[in-house]
Amino acid sequence: MIEFILNDRTIRSEAEPGTPLLDVIRYHEHLPGTKIGCREGDCGACTVLVGTLRLLDIRSSSEAEKPNVEYRSMTSCLLALANVQGKHIVTVEGLTEPLEHGAGKLSHVQQAMVDQAATQCGICTPGFVVSLSGCCLSQEAVTPELAVRSIDGNICRCTGYKSIERAAADVAKQLAKKDVKDPVAWSVKNGFVPGYFADIAERLKTIKPVLPPEGAGNFQPLSGGTDLYVQKHDTMHHSPIRSVFNDEGLKGIRIAGDECIIGGAAVANDLIASQELRKRFPNLEKHVLLVSSTPIRNMGTLAGNFVNASPIGDLTAFFIALDSSITLRAASGNERQLKLKDLYKGYKDLDKSPDEILTSVRFKLPTQHTRFNFEKVSKRTYLDIASVNTAIRLEKEGHTIRQAFISAGGVAPVPKFLANTAAFLIGKETTTETVRKAVAVMNEEIAPISDARGTADYKRLLLRQLFFAHFMELFPERIKLKELV
Ligand SMILES: Cc1cc2nc3c(=O)[nH]c(=O)nc-3n(C[C@H](O)[C@H](O)[C@H](O)COP(=O)(O)OP(=O)(O)OC[C@H]3O[C@@H](n4cnc5c(N)ncnc54)[C@H](O)[C@@H]3O)c2cc1C
Ligand code: FES
Ligand code: FES
Repeated sequence: MIEFILNDRTIRSEAEPGTPLLDVIRYHEHLPGTKIGCREGDCGACTVLVGTLRLLDIRSSSEAEKPNVEYRSMTSCLLALANVQGKHIVTVEGLTEPLEHGAGKLSHVQQAMVDQAATQCGICTPGFVVSLSGCCLSQEAVTPELAVRSIDGNICRCTGYKSIERAAADVAKQLAKKDVKDPVAWSVKNGFVPGYFADIAERLKTIKPVLPPEGAGNFQPLSGGTDLYVQKHDTMHHSPIRSVFNDEGLKGIRIAGDECIIGGAAVANDLIASQELRKRFPNLEKHVLLVSSTPIRNMGTLAGNFVNASPIGDLTAFFIALDSSITLRAASGNERQLKLKDLYKGYKDLDKSPDEILTSVRFKLPTQHTRFNFEKVSKRTYLDIASVNTAIRLEKEGHTIRQAFISAGGVAPVPKFLANTAAFLIGKETTTETVRKAVAVMNEEIAPISDARGTADYKRLLLRQLFFAHFMELFPERIKLKELV
């Protein structure tokens, strides 16, 4: 049985743990406000807020820690029922304060959509309203830019985005005085969400975690489901799954000595949220924003990206270039480590047994001698998978490269570690000549194929341009485009 709170009601569902939450919401709980568009995480019509109990640090007050709920938007079409155990799920119906005659009073976000005429057919509107309401409840100051970013996973076919952007800007304006230390209490007090939100933290505390079923060690691991529910949409509902998405032992980002260790169940947006990582990777936010959309970044985990073994996985490219190692834990409890680059033996063929869980990834922290960059080309800049992607980490001394790690996606059957190109760069000076010669080496060790995302020749050309871009970005004073081409 899976227990969670849906809007203001506690639900104890006997449905199979693999059932998409969207079906539970619409067909079991009869809340049709959450819409079905693509069922592939692309359109955002099914977006819900998922609230997780956290201990909120409010040092300025007399209490040291206070239970609070952190809300993140997710697409319910890809969210397994198993993943919402102990969570607060908010649909569009849960955002309105009920009035005496049975109707609901529009929330400030809904009112902004009405005021700006930001809806026509209305199929996408609940998704936009839910995503924007996530802004009200987030622990960050909201700018118009951030409000628009919160709806980057929502597609509208008929209204046109300008009026929706204006509604988002209106909401941001109203949130100017939000208390980022306790956004839920502030949002209740100021009418952004109904009063019942105030009791949710206490109610969630009473829901016990559910232990995995007997023999689950042999079931397929499930994290965010953003790959599994797209690839195996018809079978996931009934598949025996072992959800590790909410396993606290697989969460977190910590610094230990000169290493960073990240739990396998950390999601892409956890990277952006980490001040420690942002300090060390100044372009981290720009890079991670190129991966999918806000709701998918709130669900898609590092482990899922690595184990899915897509040759164009963005996080995989990122972490291969960091020369990362992963830890795998077998059902017996035995653990082993290997380099992420060595996980891939052939197309979707891994050095991993089915019972092994990827528990963490670790890499050496960058120093003052480190240069890191990530580049991606896709048909659209945002919310699209890569045609080709690549990341690079260089350790340099003066102008000389002492160590090099380079990854490339979309140019081989596996996420590729460019071993020969990296070896060629070691001991070389960062000059135009070095970059040109390195491209010749690189061309010998890639084997792109023609497919829907481009011809083999085009992908070769893309990787060359992205390789140039690495050096122009990292050494703008030494490497100029006009001298490269
Ligand atoms: C709309 C949309 C846009 C996307 N855009 C991008 C993009 O721009 N870039 C990109 O790289 N990807 C993208 N993806 C793909 C996907 O979001 C990522 O690959 C994500 O990181 C997968 O993680 P997950 O937790 O959802 O994996 P899941 O679907 O839960 O699992 C994927 C695989 O990993 C296995 N697995 C999961 N966790 C573990 C574990 N801890 N140990 C062992 N095995 C495990 C599962 O058994 C399964 O085989 C997109 C997906 C969607 C739906
Ligand atoms: S139905 Fe399109 S994202 Fe879920
Ligand atoms: S209002 Fe029709 S799709 Fe957005």
